[in-house]
Amino acid sequence: MRYFSQKFSMPDDYGKALLNDIATEELGHCEMIATMVHQLTKNATIKEMEEAGLGAMYAEHGKGVYPTDSNGVPFTVAYFAVTGDPLADIMEDMAAEQKARATYENLINMTDDEDVIRVLLFLRQREVVHYNRFKELFLYYKKKGY
Ligand SMILES: [Fe+2]
Repeated sequence: MRYFSQKFSMPDDYGKALLNDIATEELGHCEMIATMVHQLTKNATIKEMEEAGLGAMYAEHGKGVYPTDSNGVPFTVAYFAVTGDPLADIMEDMAAEQKARATYENLINMTDDEDVIRVLLFLRQREVVHYNRFKELFLYYKKKGY
Protein backbone atom coordinates (compact mmCIF):
# COMPACT_ATOMS: atom_id res chain seq x y z
CA MET A 1 0.00 0.00 0.00
CA ARG A 2 2.98 2.28 0.65
CA TYR A 3 4.25 1.79 -2.89
CA PHE A 4 0.79 2.08 -4.47
CA SER A 5 0.42 5.47 -2.74
CA GLN A 6 3.92 6.77 -3.41
CA LYS A 7 3.91 5.94 -7.12
CA PHE A 8 1.80 9.01 -7.93
CA SER A 9 4.63 11.29 -6.79
CA MET A 10 7.28 9.64 -8.95
CA PRO A 11 8.47 12.04 -11.66
CA ASP A 12 8.41 9.60 -14.58
CA ASP A 13 7.01 6.31 -15.83
CA TYR A 14 10.12 4.39 -14.75
CA GLY A 15 9.47 5.22 -11.10
CA LYS A 16 5.70 4.85 -11.31
CA ALA A 17 6.01 1.44 -12.97
CA LEU A 18 8.65 0.18 -10.54
CA LEU A 19 6.60 1.12 -7.49
CA ASN A 20 3.45 -0.32 -9.03
CA ASP A 21 5.20 -3.59 -9.91
CA ILE A 22 6.73 -4.04 -6.47
CA ALA A 23 3.44 -3.08 -4.78
CA THR A 24 1.64 -5.74 -6.79
CA GLU A 25 4.24 -8.35 -5.88
CA GLU A 26 4.01 -7.38 -2.20
CA LEU A 27 0.26 -8.05 -2.24
CA GLY A 28 1.09 -11.53 -3.49
CA HIS A 29 3.47 -11.89 -0.56
CA CYS A 30 0.68 -10.89 1.82
CA GLU A 31 -1.42 -13.70 0.38
CA MET A 32 1.45 -16.18 0.78
CA ILE A 33 1.96 -15.21 4.42
CA ALA A 34 -1.77 -15.26 5.18
CA THR A 35 -2.01 -18.70 3.57
CA MET A 36 0.93 -19.94 5.64
CA VAL A 37 -0.62 -18.63 8.87
CA HIS A 38 -3.93 -20.27 7.94
CA GLN A 39 -2.24 -23.60 7.18
CA LEU A 40 -0.30 -23.49 10.46
CA THR A 41 -3.34 -22.69 12.62
CA LYS A 42 -6.36 -24.27 10.94
CA ASN A 43 -6.01 -27.61 12.75
CA ALA A 44 -4.50 -26.26 15.97
CA THR A 45 -6.37 -26.89 19.20
CA ILE A 46 -7.25 -23.97 21.45
CA LYS A 47 -4.63 -25.25 23.90
CA GLU A 48 -2.00 -25.23 21.12
CA MET A 49 -3.04 -21.70 20.14
CA GLU A 50 -2.63 -20.58 23.76
CA GLU A 51 0.73 -22.35 24.13
CA ALA A 52 1.93 -20.61 20.96
CA GLY A 53 1.06 -17.21 22.45
CA LEU A 54 -2.02 -16.85 20.24
CA GLY A 55 -4.68 -17.06 22.96
CA ALA A 56 -5.63 -13.39 22.71
CA MET A 57 -5.65 -13.61 18.91
CA TYR A 58 -7.95 -16.63 19.09
CA ALA A 59 -10.25 -14.85 21.55
CA GLU A 60 -10.65 -11.88 19.19
CA HIS A 61 -10.51 -13.55 15.78
CA GLY A 62 -10.93 -17.31 16.17
CA LYS A 63 -8.96 -19.03 13.43
CA GLY A 64 -9.41 -16.05 11.11
CA VAL A 65 -6.32 -14.44 9.62
CA TYR A 66 -6.09 -10.88 10.94
CA PRO A 67 -3.16 -8.62 10.00
CA THR A 68 -1.24 -7.56 13.11
CA ASP A 69 2.40 -7.32 14.08
CA SER A 70 3.89 -9.91 16.43
CA ASN A 71 2.59 -7.91 19.42
CA GLY A 72 -0.98 -8.03 18.15
CA VAL A 73 -1.01 -4.39 17.01
CA PRO A 74 -3.29 -4.22 13.94
CA PHE A 75 -1.98 -3.06 10.59
CA THR A 76 -2.56 0.62 10.00
CA VAL A 77 -1.72 3.06 7.23
CA ALA A 78 0.22 4.99 9.88
CA TYR A 79 3.06 2.46 9.36
CA PHE A 80 4.10 4.16 6.17
CA ALA A 81 4.70 7.66 4.91
CA VAL A 82 4.13 9.46 1.64
CA THR A 83 6.11 12.69 1.49
CA GLY A 84 5.59 13.51 -2.18
CA ASP A 85 9.39 13.75 -2.46
CA PRO A 86 10.70 10.92 -4.67
CA LEU A 87 14.12 10.65 -3.00
CA ALA A 88 12.70 10.70 0.53
CA ASP A 89 10.05 8.13 -0.31
CA ILE A 90 12.45 5.80 -2.12
CA MET A 91 14.96 6.03 0.73
CA GLU A 92 12.19 5.01 3.13
CA ASP A 93 11.30 2.13 0.82
CA MET A 94 14.90 0.93 0.85
CA ALA A 95 14.83 0.96 4.66
CA ALA A 96 11.48 -0.88 4.65
CA GLU A 97 12.92 -3.62 2.44
CA GLN A 98 15.92 -4.02 4.75
CA LYS A 99 13.61 -4.21 7.78
CA ALA A 100 11.52 -6.85 6.01
CA ARG A 101 14.67 -8.84 5.20
CA ALA A 102 15.80 -8.68 8.82
CA THR A 103 12.35 -9.75 10.06
CA TYR A 104 12.32 -12.76 7.72
CA GLU A 105 15.76 -13.73 9.00
CA ASN A 106 14.53 -13.48 12.60
CA LEU A 107 11.51 -15.63 11.74
CA ILE A 108 13.76 -18.21 10.06
CA ASN A 109 15.84 -18.33 13.25
CA MET A 110 12.67 -19.09 15.25
CA THR A 111 11.55 -22.23 13.38
CA ASP A 112 12.81 -25.64 12.33
CA ASP A 113 9.85 -26.23 9.97
CA GLU A 114 11.52 -26.74 6.58
CA ASP A 115 8.32 -25.87 4.67
CA VAL A 116 8.07 -22.56 6.51
CA ILE A 117 11.78 -21.83 6.10
CA ARG A 118 11.58 -22.40 2.34
CA VAL A 119 8.82 -19.82 1.97
CA LEU A 120 10.58 -17.34 4.25
CA LEU A 121 13.85 -17.70 2.32
CA PHE A 122 11.99 -16.97 -0.93
CA LEU A 123 10.34 -13.89 0.57
CA ARG A 124 13.64 -12.74 2.09
CA GLN A 125 15.31 -12.96 -1.31
CA ARG A 126 12.56 -10.91 -2.95
CA GLU A 127 13.12 -8.16 -0.35
CA VAL A 128 16.78 -8.08 -1.35
CA VAL A 129 15.73 -7.73 -5.00
CA HIS A 130 13.27 -4.95 -4.11
CA TYR A 131 15.97 -3.14 -2.15
CA ASN A 132 18.30 -3.28 -5.14
CA ARG A 133 15.61 -2.05 -7.56
CA PHE A 134 14.80 0.87 -5.24
CA LYS A 135 18.50 1.66 -4.88
CA GLU A 136 18.86 1.79 -8.67
CA LEU A 137 15.86 4.12 -8.89
CA PHE A 138 17.22 6.31 -6.08
CA LEU A 139 20.60 6.68 -7.79
CA TYR A 140 18.91 7.34 -11.15
CA TYR A 141 16.78 10.15 -9.72
CA LYS A 142 19.67 11.57 -7.74
CA LYS A 143 21.75 11.73 -10.93
CA LYS A 144 18.85 13.47 -12.72
CA GLY A 145 18.73 16.06 -9.94
CA TYR A 146 15.36 15.27 -8.36
FE1 LIG B 1 9.62 -6.01 -0.64
